[in-house]
Amino acid sequence: MAVATRAVMLFLAATLSGVSANTDSDDVNALNVLYTSMNSPSQLTNWVSQNGDPCGQSWLGITCSGSRVTTIKLSGMGLNGTLGYNMNLLTALVELLV
Ligand SMILES: *[C@@H]1O[C@H](CO)[C@@H](O)[C@H](O)[C@H]1NC(C)=O
Repeated sequence: MAVATRAVMLFLAATLSGVSANTDSDDVNALNVLYTSMNSPSQLTNWVSQNGDPCGQSWLGITCSGSRVTTIKLSGMGLNGTLGYNMNLLTALVELLV
């Protein structure tokens, strides 16, 4: 394969996998609220209270399948506060450890 063709394909792959958010918007919303409900702990690296991309940015403790959040494992991190009021949005969640 020509080098130029390879470069174009790499560029396309980077464009498709980066830039725009990979994570389902309902899942992002629920994790934003969860984060603020737990007093925005700095232990949760990569987490943000507005938007963000939990699956694409490897938020600590989050595992995804495709664009959906499937597990949240936050035990042993000294977190406090409450769960979010809209955890029900996480319809693909199969495991929650806090
Ligand atoms: C709860 O956790 C937050 C973030 O880690 C921290 O700033 C706060 O001091 C903690 N509050 C209590 C009562 O432990």
